[in-house]
Amino acid sequence: MKVLVVGSGAREHALAVALSRDPSVTAVAVAPGNPGTAEVALNLPVDPMDPAAVADLAQGFDLVVVGPEAPLVAGVADAVRDKGIPVFGPSAEAAQIEGSKSFAKEVMSAAGVPTAAADTCQTADAAVTALQARTPPYVVKADGLAAGKGVLVTEDLLDAENFARDVLSTAGARVVVEDFLDGPEVSLFAITDGTTVLPMLPAQDHKRVGDGDTGPNTGGMGAYAPLPWLPSGTVAEILALVLQPVVDELSRRGTPFVGLLYAGLAMTSNGPSVVEFNCRFGDPETQSVLALLDSPLGEVLLKAATGRLAGTELSWRSGGSVTVVVAAEGYPGTPTAGDTIELGELPAGVEVLHAGTRLDDGSLVSAGGRVLSVTAVGLSLQDARERAYDGVRQVVMRGGFSRSDIAARAARGEISVPTRGSDQ
Ligand code: GLY
Repeated sequence: MKVLVVGSGAREHALAVALSRDPSVTAVAVAPGNPGTAEVALNLPVDPMDPAAVADLAQGFDLVVVGPEAPLVAGVADAVRDKGIPVFGPSAEAAQIEGSKSFAKEVMSAAGVPTAAADTCQTADAAVTALQARTPPYVVKADGLAAGKGVLVTEDLLDAENFARDVLSTAGARVVVEDFLDGPEVSLFAITDGTTVLPMLPAQDHKRVGDGDTGPNTGGMGAYAPLPWLPSGTVAEILALVLQPVVDELSRRGTPFVGLLYAGLAMTSNGPSVVEFNCRFGDPETQSVLALLDSPLGEVLLKAATGRLAGTELSWRSGGSVTVVVAAEGYPGTPTAGDTIELGELPAGVEVLHAGTRLDDGSLVSAGGRVLSVTAVGLSLQDARERAYDGVRQVVMRGGFSRSDIAARAARGEISVPTRGSDQ
């Protein structure tokens, strides 16, 4: 089988690596890809936001896997599907589960899925009223796609009001003001053909830029899987309570979701509650989750893309996986670009996945905020963590920085889920 992956980040690099391990996959191409994907696949130039161009490029492939959310919301999967080519990725309509926070709230309400109470606001006055009716921390979300920068969680009412005003200054914009959900967060990915839902290993990402979860939100500074602190049975509970009802609701509406449904949840004292949905693999969680996958990824994604997922099971390596992002100076503000990257010899079990890199006269240089994902597998989370940081020390880049505490609290056993019915 020949597989085309659409995108150019570390998530797509991880997908290309995992697909290359599948014996049924004879060729992998990534469009447009990056210098890292060129080492495991054929890079093909394309504008991933141009549905017709991607559909033309897809001719001759047996499966297309769309990585990022923006092409999905723009209808890339629809254009490929219209050509009769199997595609792992939802239609533009189903991708609204990520493209519109208010749409996601409406689907959850119809499906009876637990989530924070929310108000959708079209004016600054309405947003201020919704905020003033709540207690801190305040949560404000831009309704549309915002590349990880559309959410503010703050103790400061004025900051929350100003963020809402800023988002609403764009014509047609809306914000969602919602209650804060306390409790450790879980990223649970599910592969679905629109009917059958197959959860993957639970993961957790670290969204804030600084150690100890300080500083502004980012696209994600690191991740780990699985979650030793998650009570057994929680994945089955989330499947029954959240993932299956949402997939069923989208199918009932005539807009089946085929692809990767990513539920971001908080483990609250009332049980799991949805913080957000994404319509694609998460980044950087995917780098850790796929590093532990034993099943043939291409075969499973093809089954999902062709409505044949029923009866499929996933198998996983034991141990843990940790991903540490190396970011460029200035991130998540304006990152510097063009810094030379040198990679030393990597320890066993460590992979460097490229995100914001490019080749400049044959030298690897930075070209984005999140530059590299260093992913390690180990016998335990602590082992994987040590290997990942050994790998990070092999990256030399002026101004490059990482968090030093990815998976640290989990490895030390410091994360716990609130007791059901308690108030914490
Ligand atoms: N890790 C967060 C995301 O992929 O949106």
